[in-house]
Amino acid sequence: NRSIKIAPSILAADFANFGAECRAIEAEGADWVHVDVMDGHFVPNLTFGPAMCAALRPHIKGVMDVHLMIAPVDPYLEAFANAGADILTAHVEAGPHIHRTLQAIRGLGKKAGVALNPGTPVGAVAGLLDMVDLVCVMTVNPGFGGQGFIDSQLPKIAELRRLIGDRPVHIEVDGGVTVTTAPLVAKAGADALVAGSAVFKGGSVANPGGYGTNIRAI
Ligand code: DX5
Ligand code: ZN
Repeated sequence: NRSIKIAPSILAADFANFGAECRAIEAEGADWVHVDVMDGHFVPNLTFGPAMCAALRPHIKGVMDVHLMIAPVDPYLEAFANAGADILTAHVEAGPHIHRTLQAIRGLGKKAGVALNPGTPVGAVAGLLDMVDLVCVMTVNPGFGGQGFIDSQLPKIAELRRLIGDRPVHIEVDGGVTVTTAPLVAKAGADALVAGSAVFKGGSVANPGGYGTNIRAI
């Protein structure tokens, strides 16, 4: 389904070859490149900062979708905007002032996203839907790739789709998306699918056996 955006997460790519990995996934049909930023505080893992995003930028023709799993987030927004992010997504749980954060992202000229952990109800973003371009529903607890899809999030996606109505807001789903779970989230109303291990398992640029899952098959 071409109207569904596929966003491979480079968290599952070869960390020594990100430039080549980004070029390869775009050549295979990726719509967005999903970059998971983790701070070892909001989530129990560490990944990339704005310098890494700036280094990736010339290797990505399309959309750089930056998922900020950091707290506080506000002090870093300008750096990620300057690094060339197209979408900046902050977690509703990351601080008391998500509204201010979203205003700041749009003020920097970027598309604004808000992410929800599996334990957070949809109501937490109900009052924000006019100021976001994307809501990211986490279908794993954030921090690591390769975790199992949490089924209880499916009704949440459907509820969010009803709340969004005709607003031009994407529903992105992140975590445990595979050829098996992708149709379920799409049916529930998601239109942007993040996939890390499903895309990169069994192959990468450094291991040219090919990607484990054809990107357009997701
Ligand atoms: C988890 C990240 C995800 C992760 C998804 O904290 O936000 O983007 O890379 O990986 P898979 O697809 O392997 O669950
Ligand atoms: Zn993510």
